[in-house]
Amino acid sequence: MSDDGLIEVRCKGVSRRYADGTRTITALDGFTDTFRSGETVAVTGPSGSGKSTLLGLLAALDYADDGTIHLGETELGSLSTVEQTQLRAERISYLGSEHNLLPILSVYENISLALSLKRLAEAEIDRRIRENLRRVDLWDLAYRRPAELSSGERARAAIARALASDNPVLIADEPTAHLDAEDAERIARLLAAAASDGRHLVIFATHDPVVASYADRTVRLRSDARSPERGSA
Ligand SMILES: Nc1ncnc2c1ncn2[C@@H]1O[C@H](COP(=O)(O)OP(=O)(O)OP(=O)(O)O)[C@@H](O)[C@H]1O
Ligand SMILES: [Mg+2]
Repeated sequence: MSDDGLIEVRCKGVSRRYADGTRTITALDGFTDTFRSGETVAVTGPSGSGKSTLLGLLAALDYADDGTIHLGETELGSLSTVEQTQLRAERISYLGSEHNLLPILSVYENISLALSLKRLAEAEIDRRIRENLRRVDLWDLAYRRPAELSSGERARAAIARALASDNPVLIADEPTAHLDAEDAERIARLLAAAASDGRHLVIFATHDPVVASYADRTVRLRSDARSPERGSA
């Protein structure tokens, strides 16, 4: 990260292959692009085109077989799994479509737990939870458990948790997959707004063209996993 807190994620020739019995499946083939703070990027493409594979690599949850991904000066392929975990805690929020809220904790406690990794003062944790639950219009439900929320509310709680961490990179894999059109647009709007302060980079995968239209640009992966087509939203 540069001194001004801005971030650049540079992918060069990134490939990921999986062994499948006697065959090798190329999930991503030579992906090259640069993502910057202030951008919201939608990753689209047919099922199996490598969207989740790409996001997993960008979130330092996986290792590329070829190519490099730099997050600022850090080359993700050079990190140990412990360093990957540390990088995610400090710089990358990853959000899947299942949202992974712990069922026995309230929304408030779920966010508090995520922030406890960050060595923040308790008052600051409380401030961030209030601010971000208000931002997603969920403060009224802060003390409910995930099972007592609608799926749209759960999605917003997970977004509030990601925003409260204030990591410079937010990666979301189909965050609106289980939502109706209205909730999906609401989530898309919140994600786009998160990058609009210029200090955050938001990258999300989606099958929904309406959700993708909230991004500044779209990276479309092709089903044959060759080089991506580029286009603007
Ligand atoms: N762990 C794995 N082992 C073997 N093959 C895998 C693995 N993960 C993904 N693949 C294969 O890699 C390709 C890309 O998968 P990926 O999940 O990235 O696609 P996707 O674009 O996210 O699809 P969807 O829209 O259905 O979520 C697919 O052919 C998939 O079967
Ligand atoms: Mg996927």
